[in-house]
Amino acid sequence: MKLLDGKKVSEFILKEVKEEIDQYISQKHLGYDLSRPSMAIVLVGNNPASESYVRGKIKACEKAQINHKIIRFEEDITAYDLLNEIKYLNKSHFDGFIVQLPLPNHIEPNSIINEISAYKDIDGFHPLNFGKMALGQKSMRPATAYGILKLIQHYKIPTNGKHVVVVGRSNIVGKPVSIMLGNDFDIGRATVTSCDIHTPKKLLKEETQKADIVIVAVGQAGFLTSNMIKEGAVVIDVGINRLETGKLVGDCDFQEVSTKAGFLTPVPGGVGPMTIAGLILNTFEAWKMKNL
Ligand code: GUN
Repeated sequence: MKLLDGKKVSEFILKEVKEEIDQYISQKHLGYDLSRPSMAIVLVGNNPASESYVRGKIKACEKAQINHKIIRFEEDITAYDLLNEIKYLNKSHFDGFIVQLPLPNHIEPNSIINEISAYKDIDGFHPLNFGKMALGQKSMRPATAYGILKLIQHYKIPTNGKHVVVVGRSNIVGKPVSIMLGNDFDIGRATVTSCDIHTPKKLLKEETQKADIVIVAVGQAGFLTSNMIKEGAVVIDVGINRLETGKLVGDCDFQEVSTKAGFLTPVPGGVGPMTIAGLILNTFEAWKMKNL
């Protein structure tokens, strides 16, 4: 079994982005001085998981030398005030920004996401970006799905004509990754089966056992076991679950699955850093769209 080292691939991408930005800036596009790309992160409340994810995003910005700012709000901010901040950021100098999720229960996330300018939506969550992605048009890709594709690409894992089973149908991972793996525009036409935790277990197992690539994003520790995959399968584990012991694990039974899979992403150090790489690539894209 070979580990798909998202941490290493992400570092590689960040370095590449930094160098490309350096190059654009040194070329003085159209004779103008360009400032480096910039991103803002809106963080509401003090959810410890969100704090940790945001720290990871800031570290990545530092490595790619992307200017960054965290904009913090108290848990009790009103939807109205948060929307005003979004409107300000849409017009600001920031090339892109995200609103870290989850938001407090009194704020409906879509009412916020839908107001983010599609040009600055570096998470790729806005309906316009999602729609363009589904149509195979150039757009800001949902960052986790984009990161997963980059990881598959980096390890030269073939997707054309392969059978991929995606377990999980969230708007931010399961749905977009299922669509992108079937798109010509992205990395080649796979035959994709989309399942979720409500798929009857017997049917789910029949599907995953046939899959060349299994992508699991359900948020349940130990969900995918070795009897559910075929020998040598590629397993991409998107889950991040904290056990009572404090240990961070994915959705796979790692011990078991690692004895049978051909390739497997670790948790942590697999998809997590690749999501951040996706976010950085989108920021770079937004900056290029604005300036070049
Ligand atoms: N919370 C967990 N993952 C994400 C993500 O990719 N983007 C945002 N904005 N919030 C998240």
